[in-house]
Amino acid sequence: MKNTNIRIDPLTGALGAVVHGVNLAEPMDDATFEQVNQAFLEHCVIFFRQQDLNPDQHKRFAARFALNIHPYIAGLPDHPEVMEFVKEPAETGYNLGGKWHSDTTFLDTPALGSVLYAHEVPPSGGDTIFANTYRAYESLSPAMQDMLGKLRAVHSSAGSYGKGGNFDRNRAKGQGSMSIDLDEASTREASHPVIRVHPQTGRKLLFVNPNFTQRFEDMTVEESKPLLEFLYAHQHRPEFTCRFRWEQHSVAFWDNRCTQHLAVNDYDGFRRRMHRVTIEGDRPV
Ligand code: SIN
Repeated sequence: MKNTNIRIDPLTGALGAVVHGVNLAEPMDDATFEQVNQAFLEHCVIFFRQQDLNPDQHKRFAARFALNIHPYIAGLPDHPEVMEFVKEPAETGYNLGGKWHSDTTFLDTPALGSVLYAHEVPPSGGDTIFANTYRAYESLSPAMQDMLGKLRAVHSSAGSYGKGGNFDRNRAKGQGSMSIDLDEASTREASHPVIRVHPQTGRKLLFVNPNFTQRFEDMTVEESKPLLEFLYAHQHRPEFTCRFRWEQHSVAFWDNRCTQHLAVNDYDGFRRRMHRVTIEGDRPV
């Protein structure tokens, strides 16, 4: 039976909706989960306010799907699936998620989605911006769509987790309090279609991102750069985005297949502490 307590308020014309009337800390009945899942598929990222979640409750909700353990970022000691993302007041370097990306696209099976929970937020700033990559694909010309449909792209973890990457540069400056494994030998690379079909909605979307995509397959980095730069500028146009203002105990649950996100780094001098559980995805086609 439909849960009539649920209300869904879309955030922008592009994507995002706030879901009211759901307590994520409680076990969720199937009818409620079905409504939440429909909102997730329709709006691409959904938000919940005033949730009170411990790591077990956080995982229980995400475990409606299958949980992932991140290859580089350590989880909590008793909860390897729950990562703590902290930026301390004195840290002024790269912030985790500070470049547009979809999570873990350097894996053969990138994440299906992520559930991010705010423990501590700055008094202002520290928002997260999301972009709808269905819209990005659909607004390209048919000739461009056709051409991109024949290409694959190589995604790598090196720029974030490798030597000289975002976190290594932080560490060189004595910054970065999070436990991240920066072992260059464990660089991961995966090749994915540039145009991906969402396995549940059947819609096509653009699947390249500036944080992890290195080049088109069978092309050099230099050859790939101009077209990739065009696609990045295109897919992050304001009309394809929404911006979420965090409050303590807010939750964001994004569909990592058809969105990208960026954590805005504008709150030096304040602490921001989040917990994220990542959901296993499948091989993009
Ligand atoms: C992430 O990229 O998962 C982090 C996003 C955020 O902290 O806002």
